[in-house]
Amino acid sequence: MKILCLLILIFSDTSGKSSALYVVNVERNSKIIYTWKGNERNTHIGLYDLQTKQNEHLYMFERDLHIISCSVNNERTLLAVSFRQYTEEERVSRLLQSVSKYLTLLIEIHPINNVRVLKAVDSCVQVQFLYPVEGRNNSTESRLLLVSEDKYIEQFDIHVAEEEHKVVIQNSGQLPRARVADDLIWAQWDMMEQRLFYIVPKESRSTLKCVQFYPDESFNSILESHLDISVNDTQLKLVNFGYDHCQDQDVASKSLNLQVFTSKAGGLCVCCSLASDTPDEIRYSIYFLHKGYNKTFTVSLERTESHQLKEVAFMNLDYYVAAYLPGQFLHLLNIEHPDLLCYSLFLTGEDARIDMLQNCSIQSPLMSTVLDCHVGSMYAVSISDSALLQFLQNSKQDSERLAALHCALLYFRHTEDLEMQIIWWISENLSTCHSFDPIQEFIIASLYCRMCPETHNLDKLLPYTSLLDWIGIIPGVTCATDIISLPVLEFQNSKGFWEKLNSNLESVKYAEPHLHYHSNVLRREWRNLSEEREERRTTAYLRNIFENAKKVLSHLDTWDSEERLVPLFQEEDYQQQLLMGLMVAQLKDHLMRHLQYVGKKKIDQIVLDYVANLLNLVHRIMKEVWRRYQLHSCIFCFDERGSTGEFAVFHIMSRILEAASGMCMPLPPGFHTLHLGLGVRCLPLHTLLHYIDTGVLHLTETCVGKLLKDLDDTEKNEKLKFSIVMRLPEALSQKVRQYWNHPINANFIARKYVKLLLEKLGNRQSSSPIPERLSVPVEFLPLNYLTNMLAEIENQGVHPYEKQDHVNVRFVEETALKHTMTFLGLKYS
Ligand SMILES: *[C@@H]1O[C@H](CO)[C@@H](O)[C@H](O)[C@H]1NC(C)=O
Ligand SMILES: *[C@@H]1O[C@H](CO)[C@@H](O)[C@H](O)[C@H]1NC(C)=O
Ligand SMILES: *[C@@H]1O[C@H](CO)[C@@H](O)[C@H](O)[C@H]1NC(C)=O
Ligand SMILES: *[C@@H]1O[C@H](CO)[C@@H](O)[C@H](O)[C@H]1NC(C)=O
Ligand SMILES: *[C@@H]1O[C@H](CO)[C@@H](O)[C@H](O)[C@H]1NC(C)=O
Ligand SMILES: *[C@@H]1O[C@H](CO)[C@@H](O)[C@H](O)[C@H]1NC(C)=O
Ligand SMILES: *[C@@H]1O[C@H](CO)[C@@H](O)[C@H](O)[C@H]1NC(C)=O
Repeated sequence: MKILCLLILIFSDTSGKSSALYVVNVERNSKIIYTWKGNERNTHIGLYDLQTKQNEHLYMFERDLHIISCSVNNERTLLAVSFRQYTEEERVSRLLQSVSKYLTLLIEIHPINNVRVLKAVDSCVQVQFLYPVEGRNNSTESRLLLVSEDKYIEQFDIHVAEEEHKVVIQNSGQLPRARVADDLIWAQWDMMEQRLFYIVPKESRSTLKCVQFYPDESFNSILESHLDISVNDTQLKLVNFGYDHCQDQDVASKSLNLQVFTSKAGGLCVCCSLASDTPDEIRYSIYFLHKGYNKTFTVSLERTESHQLKEVAFMNLDYYVAAYLPGQFLHLLNIEHPDLLCYSLFLTGEDARIDMLQNCSIQSPLMSTVLDCHVGSMYAVSISDSALLQFLQNSKQDSERLAALHCALLYFRHTEDLEMQIIWWISENLSTCHSFDPIQEFIIASLYCRMCPETHNLDKLLPYTSLLDWIGIIPGVTCATDIISLPVLEFQNSKGFWEKLNSNLESVKYAEPHLHYHSNVLRREWRNLSEEREERRTTAYLRNIFENAKKVLSHLDTWDSEERLVPLFQEEDYQQQLLMGLMVAQLKDHLMRHLQYVGKKKIDQIVLDYVANLLNLVHRIMKEVWRRYQLHSCIFCFDERGSTGEFAVFHIMSRILEAASGMCMPLPPGFHTLHLGLGVRCLPLHTLLHYIDTGVLHLTETCVGKLLKDLDDTEKNEKLKFSIVMRLPEALSQKVRQYWNHPINANFIARKYVKLLLEKLGNRQSSSPIPERLSVPVEFLPLNYLTNMLAEIENQGVHPYEKQDHVNVRFVEETALKHTMTFLGLKYS
């Protein structure tokens, strides 16, 4: 299954020789300029509109020309063309010494009218109109970039006027021009954003610069960055300044292979392929300028065929940059989160195949678009979600699973169906992951993706992964990381990309990892407060915490109108609500520290959203597994045994619990009740008790109450109930014991009462006068002695069970007697 799918946008069939079409340029408005040879070897220039799928004939030369570069202005009134007049051989043989080798023309084409010569020189020239505002189509001003092989770039200003339905150039003399860059050895045009990147060599290093062109006719140098790439090419190398299909493949592949890619989120990468010393290795390096490091990858090739091109092609997919070597590998490099290698997809074999791109003459003129210059076809490139899912399902290694999960959750973002498939995969394949917890990863990544697009910079404060580090290896690839100096930006009040890049650079300066929210403090605080005694739970601080929790739950209520398939959120849960409230408080503190300018109200909202989304995700997992295993609501019918489906869900719930406690993350109220309910139905008694004793299953009031009430007192049930009652914490046992009217229970209560009384006695140490003897119906000496002693304490005003009047020394005495009589087989009257 191939992960990258190509959708053909334009294809020119080069097999019918006479009509071969060649793409020469792709303009910002998705219009593609192409050339072909007509009858009598005329050279035609045409325009294809990707949106309307219409073709338009622009111009024709009555000669057989080799078009080098061509651009049309936004209004389609001017055409700039640069072509080679003669080859070197022709020049010598035809004695054309006085005629320049190359010619650059500016042609009025609305309608076809005058032609002006811009350059007639022996060095090659490329042309490119600026498109400062997309969709503007009635401007009278055009600007044209002219790039010379002699290592300079200049800009021409051209004014046109409409005269008798003809659009003509106004300047009669020289066109005004300005120098944009000098001494460059490499340049790349970013058409969508109207930026020029170029490199100026400086001894052994190089400087990358960027010029931004603005709609108001101005431009300025905005970025400077040092690269440790020594470029000793003598020839100027151009990227995305049109496509010259005649360029010698051999020369092209030997020259500097370097490209700059930007992402919408403010990522800026320089990709270059490096010479390798060993024949069966490929090396390429990515400078993550927005992160402050470069990574150099070395890939060992499985099969090496000497005739194969040994140079990677780079493609921009926004979130990923693809490094592709046909027949060998496809490396989708994550540029948003490049720190851990396991969040990039390294594909080989069938997964890496792209049928239509078998050769490496690939350019990436637009984001998610590739042009095969050699064949003359342009394709839209995308990652296939179904292939990704298959990749996940067939994955053998944790690195593959992490990469696929990350791509599915953060690149595809919140796609209901994909999310469901992933939950299914997790529920079935939990135990195949060794180095990470897929439930934690799912929850953290999904939360990040739900929260981060909303507020700028939140992405730096919330974790995107549950992993703190990853030390695994990816077979076949080695990677070396080096810190590099950060680029210098000079911009004022820029919005969009430059602002985002700037904020990325700021957070690198502030040591980014420390900005991510972490649950260490939360865990400490939660433990501390959980152990607090009942009386202290009423402080203003705690009231506030529980108020937070209430807000989260009511916020959640407003989302989930769907009927509640899974019986969650139907009870209070002190522990979980405490944790929710604490999480709200701590996350709020964390965001307040780093997002001061956002405002308290907005932060409150973000934090509520975050915690509510977290609970919602757990609920989402529960809903999907509930559906998948077709569970019913009869989870609390304790007289039946659970099905295999219930057993599977019980197991998944145990893993959710583990994941949650690992991250100190709250669970929906009712989770423990449901878990215990399934445990009672599915587990044999000794296993159930073991789970309770080890703290996996929590005894909740709802579940224990139901169990004591609903189950009749067969011998087996009595055993179960007694084992549970034995394990109840004191506070809970007071609440639920009323549900079970049974001698064992009474006996148990009596014993507990004595214990408590004696404990209180130990605390008191008073010596009040001996009280009146109780009237005791039966003489039973040890018991009389004990009851006397207890009565004495009781008389001092000690009543452990204030609300239950009938539990007193008398009750203890009677129960003890009853129990003893029963034990002795006597009848008690
Ligand atoms: C540009 O032209 C199109 C039609 O060709 C028209 O719909 C649109 O309004 C024009 N835009 C401007 C800014 O004039
Ligand atoms: C272009 O069109 C816009 C509105 O469509 C108009 O306001 C503007 O004046 C026009 N500009 C020129 C140069 O005709
Ligand atoms: C360029 O570098 C290569 C090796 O890095 C070297 O062999 C070659 O001589 C250099 N060329 C120039 C012109 O410096
Ligand atoms: C790749 O290029 C080679 C030579 O450059 C050519 O022979 C071969 O047919 C091309 N393959 C494809 C699939 O285009
Ligand atoms: C779980 O993994 C196995 C093997 O890796 C795979 O065949 C299966 O489809 C996966 N389950 C789901 C629901 O994706
Ligand atoms: C990466 O950066 C380091 C530090 O600046 C430098 O030494 C190294 O040559 C760079 N790697 C490549 C491939 O340019
Ligand atoms: C636990 O809480 C108490 C009071 O709320 C506080 O005094 C104490 O410092 C806390 N301990 C820890 C370890 O946070």
